[in-house]
Amino acid sequence: MRRKMAAGNWKMNGTQVSLAELAALQGMAQGTVETLICPPATLIYAAAGLKTGITIGAQDCHSAESGAHTGDLSAGMLADAGAAYVITGHSERRQDHGESDADIAAKTKAAWAAGLKVILCVGESLEQREDGTTLEVLAAQLKGSVPDGSTGGNLVIAYEPIWAIGTGKVPTAQQIGEVHRFLRTELASRFGDDIAGGVRLLYGGSVKASNAAEIFAVPDVDGALVGGASLKASDFMPIVSALNAAPNT
Ligand code: 13P
Repeated sequence: MRRKMAAGNWKMNGTQVSLAELAALQGMAQGTVETLICPPATLIYAAAGLKTGITIGAQDCHSAESGAHTGDLSAGMLADAGAAYVITGHSERRQDHGESDADIAAKTKAAWAAGLKVILCVGESLEQREDGTTLEVLAAQLKGSVPDGSTGGNLVIAYEPIWAIGTGKVPTAQQIGEVHRFLRTELASRFGDDIAGGVRLLYGGSVKASNAAEIFAVPDVDGALVGGASLKASDFMPIVSALNAAPNT
């Protein structure tokens, strides 16, 4: 059975004082849900040192092990700082930093080589959704960015429609269900049913306490990747609770 996951992506938010929010999540590490927070890289070491039971992740890594890459961080450095996961392929990095599917595949492989697990993000733009090309776009992203060697132990996929991120707009349960079923089928055709059945599929984009239960009831949704509502423990806790209470999909 896939272990459910509630993941928070703090993006470029948070300073030392924000560690209090993480400390407040301590009790939430119990139960059947794996709870993960990806703070900015500046906080990873301190966050991991709090020993809250909340898993700590990073938001990006470089694909090289080391070298002349000013300002970048290798997967090994992030692991050394205490990260267990790294997010790759977030649409904000695809857009703001021009990351291609090939870049994301390379980063994912580098993360695995450093012992990190990966949350790899895919998602369509509003234009692609309206053009009816969503599934085509997602298939291409999976093909180009998910490396060979993926397993339920090293890969989580997050479906984040770009138009739902930070907008308060959320796809219908039917739209989320269609995509998640499609992602699992695509993974199965490439890696086989056993591996595809072990890879967790998260939904991300404007998840909050008020819509979490409905989203978590959708088949093939194994959890969420939460942005804004992960910054405050009081906003994130009810989402984790909703996931704990959700039926196994
Ligand atoms: P919001 O939850 O703020 O919409 O962000 C989603 C996201 O991009 C998580 O990676």
